[in-house]
Amino acid sequence: MKLRSDVNHWGAIAKSFHWIVALAILGNGVFGLCMDLASNPMQKINWLALHKSIGLTVLALMLLRLAWRWPDGRPREEPAPRWQLVAARATHVVLYLLALALPLSGWWYNSVTGKPLQWFKLFNLPGLAAKNDALRHFSHAVHEYLFWFLVLVLVAHVGAALKHHVFDGDDVLRRMLPFGRLRNDKTQAGERS
Ligand code: HEM
Ligand code: HEM
Repeated sequence: MKLRSDVNHWGAIAKSFHWIVALAILGNGVFGLCMDLASNPMQKINWLALHKSIGLTVLALMLLRLAWRWPDGRPREEPAPRWQLVAARATHVVLYLLALALPLSGWWYNSVTGKPLQWFKLFNLPGLAAKNDALRHFSHAVHEYLFWFLVLVLVAHVGAALKHHVFDGDDVLRRMLPFGRLRNDKTQAGERS
């Protein structure tokens, strides 16, 4: 598997960013929702610290991913009606924005509550804003609803990927899967011969 993307394939780096970030966002979101299951306040503090550290890691990975996206490019789009191409591009832009906004909103919420912030107990990070009790509920709601909005957009994103795979029979999903083989891969056929 090549590191860089080309006209037919997503490269290994783009695929790794996609799947690591997808798993981390969804896992951390479910973790965030389950935080109240902690059996005692100390456990909740530890879980929260882990949640914040994973979230900050997502933010760093997203910045690296965007820095890589521009020089790397992307495979050519499969032929589709224009509205579908526009919808796919818009969905991808919204997903990029949400993957950045979610950890930033968590960081903002943490800041207005005046809580400290560490990355895996290794170093401290400053607040994004001053402590402000008036913004406590609002910033918490922004953080939580951004997650539910992401879930909604994801339903469309996954639905579109499955539609390509099952109904259109093209390579849109296969070329993003970690070890997916394309149905008609001239490059791989050429490499084998
Ligand atoms: C939180 C979870 C996810 C996020 C944030 C996310 C985000 C993205 C983004 C931003 C792109 C565009 C990549 C680019 O143009 O640079 C993309 C592509 C893609 N995603 Fe996801 N994704 C997620 C989960 C999934 C899942 C679960 C599937 C599988 C069904 C999936 C399948 C795909 C496919 C097939 C592409 C390539 C589309 C193409 O080649 O045009 N994604 N994803
Ligand atoms: C991938 C990134 C993240 C996702 C998907 C995510 C998602 C969530 C979700 C779904 C909740 C539960 C909301 C509720 O019902 O109370 C939550 C809570 C929370 N998150 Fe995040 N979060 C992320 C990153 C962050 C970051 C980076 C921080 C701080 C720097 C943070 C701080 C918090 C805090 C303080 C809570 C409240 C927990 C509580 O009091 O019960 N999150 N998060």
